[in-house]
Amino acid sequence: MSTEQTSIVGRDTVRVDGPRKVTGVAQYTSDFHFPGMLYAVPVAATIANGKITKLDTATAEKMPGVRAILHRGNIGKIFRSIPGPGFAGICEERRPPFEDDVVRYYGQYIALAVAETFETAKAAADAVRATYAAEKANVASHLVADEEPDEVMTTFGPRKRLDNQRGDPDAAFANAPVKLDYTYVTPFETHNPLEPHSTTAMWEGQTLTLYESSQGVVNLRSVLAQMFGLPIEQVRVITKFVGSGFGSKLWPWTLCPLAAAAARQVGKPVRLVLPRKMMFHAVGHRPLTQQHVRLGATPEGKLLSLHHDYVYTRSMLDAHHEDCGEATPFQYSVPNLRVSFGRAKRNVGGGADMRGPGRVPGLYATESALNELARQLNVDPVQLRVMNEPNIDESLGLPFSSRHLLECFQLGSEKFGWSKRNPAVGSMKRDGLTLGWGMAGCSWIAARFSAAANVQLRDDGTCRVASATQDIGTGTYTILAQLASERTGVPLDKVEVELGDTSLPEGPLSGGSIATGSVVNAVFAAADEAIGSLKMIAISTPGSPFLGHKPDELEFKDGKVFVKNGANGVPFSDVLRRANLRMASGNGQSAATFGDPKPKFSTQSFGCHFAEVTWQPEIARLRVSRVVTVIDAGKIINTLAGRNQIQGAVVMGVGMALLERTEYDPQNGAPINSSLADYLVAVNADAPSIEVHFLDYPDKEINQVGARGIGEIGLAGIAAAITDAVHHATGVRVRELPVKIEDLLV
Ligand code: MOS
Repeated sequence: MSTEQTSIVGRDTVRVDGPRKVTGVAQYTSDFHFPGMLYAVPVAATIANGKITKLDTATAEKMPGVRAILHRGNIGKIFRSIPGPGFAGICEERRPPFEDDVVRYYGQYIALAVAETFETAKAAADAVRATYAAEKANVASHLVADEEPDEVMTTFGPRKRLDNQRGDPDAAFANAPVKLDYTYVTPFETHNPLEPHSTTAMWEGQTLTLYESSQGVVNLRSVLAQMFGLPIEQVRVITKFVGSGFGSKLWPWTLCPLAAAAARQVGKPVRLVLPRKMMFHAVGHRPLTQQHVRLGATPEGKLLSLHHDYVYTRSMLDAHHEDCGEATPFQYSVPNLRVSFGRAKRNVGGGADMRGPGRVPGLYATESALNELARQLNVDPVQLRVMNEPNIDESLGLPFSSRHLLECFQLGSEKFGWSKRNPAVGSMKRDGLTLGWGMAGCSWIAARFSAAANVQLRDDGTCRVASATQDIGTGTYTILAQLASERTGVPLDKVEVELGDTSLPEGPLSGGSIATGSVVNAVFAAADEAIGSLKMIAISTPGSPFLGHKPDELEFKDGKVFVKNGANGVPFSDVLRRANLRMASGNGQSAATFGDPKPKFSTQSFGCHFAEVTWQPEIARLRVSRVVTVIDAGKIINTLAGRNQIQGAVVMGVGMALLERTEYDPQNGAPINSSLADYLVAVNADAPSIEVHFLDYPDKEINQVGARGIGEIGLAGIAAAITDAVHHATGVRVRELPVKIEDLLV
């Protein structure tokens, strides 16, 4: 292994796949073309609740170039799927497409047109006539929890609605000298990755291959195998490049079995790319949440009680759990606590994980409540948090593997200039603008999924590292290359990375900010096995300078084989060539820690945001002008890609605080702002100056490098920091996201 000074881990490292992306060589799912390939366009329901009474496909079927109109009567057998052990068989909407005549949400697929060109398929889809018996759609945004048992089924198994409890929260709240009691609302939000969902399915006999824009090829394979009644070795999923996903591509959606069923029927490869409008229908969204937070405290600000009782929406079909209370039991010290949830069914498409699922809306609510308590008590919000810093994870009764939140607050305060804050509302000015300053803490889970990898050392001096994980734009190609380079000494430009293919060793999902942390030990173990094999080759090849040595008398350093403590190492390529071998290959495995029933530590990343807004009351213009974010996520393997991740999350946080909301039409249940013109995401013009700092405390509980994930933590807490800054500038406290200009016109 390389020495500390020359280590490729922990450095700014440009993307190894960058040149392929900017030269157009990188193949995204819809860049793969196949002879005879046909195009499919779904027909989407135009009601959100009711039944299809008649489906007229006659005109569409007769159009020249149309190969098939799939519908309930002719789609053929598609089975259901169930979850298996680990992350296998996970799916939010289990209903096989066209299973019945019931329409449960606007945009539900009711037929599929397959034709020789995309244009013909689109025209045919438009020519399909559906007649409905419609009922009133329920897309109401005020939530009351449905009557449900104390334990409910979710995507990941049964879950008690009384999620967490300690002490006597009701009594503690009743007797608390200081009380706070507010409800915070976060809206439906829709993932808007640049690349829409796309899939291309083809069959060779009984073998199904799917090119899919996926955040989890291994899981998708297990779902498809079940749905088509195949052994998994007869299903292959390929995802080479993904134009991001934000969680929408984490679990399979019904477009995949639809494309596969169409390809089965017409005997040709079938491509299905969703138009942007359909990205708002049946490929997930962040549920609407309504979170009731109550705090009891001493006049100094020590927390006595914390209630976090929340309700969120789900569809008629999914069991997604929006885990808003995930961080509540351990983020701060509080002796009396309750976290509970309820769900309210709506006529909307399946809910899903969206960047920072659960914890992002959850921390918006609890961090906002802390900021309001600080205001109520006239205590500095940083001080309030410092005062309530726990020594251990009070819900698990376990120490944290690594928690440096106080240092985050300290560094963030310093870099932002927090000591210059005048807390009086509207008191701070710069260049004729009113300034608002706010802050919040954040956290995200750290864990490993199971992972396997293969490393080859090759006779031309190159190294290949392979794992069936994905790069969703976050930098996984580069991370894998860095890890292989770190362990083998092969320079980065001589490392080839293969991922995104289920024929490779099973890698982790690109989700939960867990992929990076999961692959470290697997890649190192694979490299070590390849190096072990190389040593055996070195001591057994006729003519080798190492002939007759025992393997443990050799060492491998910087790509060379040495006799221990000796000089004159031999490059591994020479060792291989002398033996007439193309490669020394090794496999590595790393077990999951996610879901460990008996953990020894609470493993979390922490951080904080300090945000500045500018406010011009004369013209009602609000801007986020400056954000300083400090993240404690262990060792950052690639500091450049890492900062990019946090910057991107902060920009998304500006969108969460001020812009993003999916509006469902109460008349017909349609998501009406279903375009990039009408659904507002933060763009360059909305992006503030963003300063990102990482603490650097390797967390060896997670992996040998000590790296925890950073994909999601940057979005946690930022909306609470911004809304508190809005209050500081304007005096208006908005508790329903996003903050709208009309909220501020008081
Ligand atoms: Mo993320 S919501 O785990 O893709």
